[in-house]
Amino acid sequence: MNPLTALFSSSQSLGLLAQTSKGGTMWMPPAASTFAEHVDFTFYYIYWVSLISTVLILGVLAFMIVKYRQRPGVKSVRTPTHNTPLELFWSITPGILVTVMFFWGFKGYLDMYTPPANAYEIQVTAVKWSWEFTYPSGASDSELHLPMNRDVRLVMKSDDVLHSLFIPAFRAKMDVVPGRYQKMWFKPTKLGTYHLFCTEYCGTQHSTMITWAHVLSDEDFDKKMEALANPFERDGVEVPAVEVGELLFKRKGCTQCHTVDGTALTGPSLKGVFGKTENFRDGTSTVIDENYIRESILVPNAKIVLSYDGVMPSYQGRLKERELDALVTYIKSLH
Ligand code: CUA
Repeated sequence: MNPLTALFSSSQSLGLLAQTSKGGTMWMPPAASTFAEHVDFTFYYIYWVSLISTVLILGVLAFMIVKYRQRPGVKSVRTPTHNTPLELFWSITPGILVTVMFFWGFKGYLDMYTPPANAYEIQVTAVKWSWEFTYPSGASDSELHLPMNRDVRLVMKSDDVLHSLFIPAFRAKMDVVPGRYQKMWFKPTKLGTYHLFCTEYCGTQHSTMITWAHVLSDEDFDKKMEALANPFERDGVEVPAVEVGELLFKRKGCTQCHTVDGTALTGPSLKGVFGKTENFRDGTSTVIDENYIRESILVPNAKIVLSYDGVMPSYQGRLKERELDALVTYIKSLH
């Protein structure tokens, strides 16, 4: 067995490189993009260099402390202060190891920040606390759908504060900065569903700003895009408004803050909200009707329900008239 294979199999038995149930290793999530190999190699290179150096240096240190300790009956002798070959060795060797780290890392960095031409482009909007992905057809969803084995480019913007988009399985991460477009790209190589996180603290509900990235076959991807493009029609048949509303409720990120089962999240639950008398922070109250629901979607801070802090983003301009009607119909139906 050669030393490298031995190292690899011993790290496997230690669980360091063993496959976890989700297809990752102890240190790394599953590898599902072309970046993974480069990033993981760089990581393990730095990992092993650090581990071996630490053990070697501390080992020699411990050995010296014991061997040359002061003890009765042993006369201390003056030792040489200088050894040129030794000093060259411990300067040049780490120098080479670190230079390899730099160039390997820099090459990976350049690859990641240079999107290939003709990549499939998806617009991303981050807003406290959900994601919106808009596809070339103009359709959008709160989850990311990706065609397998194709270069994908994300053009990202934030509607409020600093966010950051991170898909660990792709080894891809980029800040989403208010006031400018940020771009990132990757090429998914493995079918499946992967976590997509916000990795920049963006307010009290930052930890709920999680969604999914789905890597789909070409056929499934086309089907998904068709369904997204027109939620009002399925297989040539008109879809009831209440069903469209339910779909949009998920797609537009409403579920991030509102449940329909009575439990409170960041926002009030919408179960049985229609026809109910609601008290507001300004001391007024009203019976919830279609107009109130509509206003709450478009101008959420007009009337804030007592005991909530009114952080909902406005959906003005983010919903078509027909979509708004469908959402109102759906919310009316919740009891
Ligand atoms: Cu958005 Cu954290």
